[in-house]
Amino acid sequence: MNIELMRNNENRLCRGGTGTEYIDVYQSYITVLFNHMKSGGQGDTLSTVPITDNCGSVVGQLRPITRDFLVSVPGCARLIARWRNENPTLSAQAFTATEQGTISWLENQILARSDRLLFLILLNDGTAVGHIGYSNFDYARRMCEVDAVLRGEKSAPPGTMTFALHALIRWGLDTLKLNIIRLRVFADNTHAIEFYKRNGFVVKAENLPAGEGSEKAYTLMQLDIPSWRQGVYQ
Ligand SMILES: CC(C)(COP(=O)(O)OP(=O)(O)OC[C@H]1O[C@@H](n2cnc3c(N)ncnc32)[C@H](O)[C@@H]1OP(=O)(O)O)[C@@H](O)C(=O)NCCC(=O)NCCS
Repeated sequence: MNIELMRNNENRLCRGGTGTEYIDVYQSYITVLFNHMKSGGQGDTLSTVPITDNCGSVVGQLRPITRDFLVSVPGCARLIARWRNENPTLSAQAFTATEQGTISWLENQILARSDRLLFLILLNDGTAVGHIGYSNFDYARRMCEVDAVLRGEKSAPPGTMTFALHALIRWGLDTLKLNIIRLRVFADNTHAIEFYKRNGFVVKAENLPAGEGSEKAYTLMQLDIPSWRQGVYQ
């Protein structure tokens, strides 16, 4: 993976600029970084993001789904399939997730896409308790969406999802250099909407059609970055 290209792009981004070339540099920066995150499966080559609680103690890691997930995280597709079946609120259409279908989803919808990255949420003892990620970049606006937020294990300590979301945001602002962080949530998912509000997101638009032949509507939310940076939500 071309780390040097990533560092060059990062330096050019820090110097600032405008126009198409600058957008291309940002796109290349994200593409190379995500590719790098997806490549290393074990040991020193694996890039993870620390999750801290509100006292600053490390309580876990965001562990990217890497290309070798079948070997480096055995059983993860089966686990994710179970989580998705137990949490139908995540999908526009009702469906039954299977291990094989989830392997295809991870390979074709996550790993193959240059603007999508999915993390497993791991506790300090290595237990996977959920997932969270980023998707759908608008490179010109340095904007993307928080994606696939799911607490898989109810037994994980209270606050785990809050801490994982803050770790993702912190990494998004510092490393991905995002200017806008958005998300779409189904309008009837009141628990999730309250969760996002509690963690610094505000409603931007409501009753937007979900598409994919679904009757559902979604709510568009956006992170209030100045308030988040002031630590109101951390
Ligand atoms: C939306 C979702 C991720 C929220 O997760 P969550 O488990 O409520 O989030 P947390 O782990 O942060 O919070 C769990 C509890 O701990 C509490 N908590 C939060 N921060 C805390 C902290 N620092 N210390 C102690 N408790 C805390 C919360 O208030 C919450 O309490 P409640 O159950 O009484 O509401 C989860 O409900 C989920 O996976 N839903 C199904 C999938 C889904 O709809 N995803 C959203 C798609 S857009």
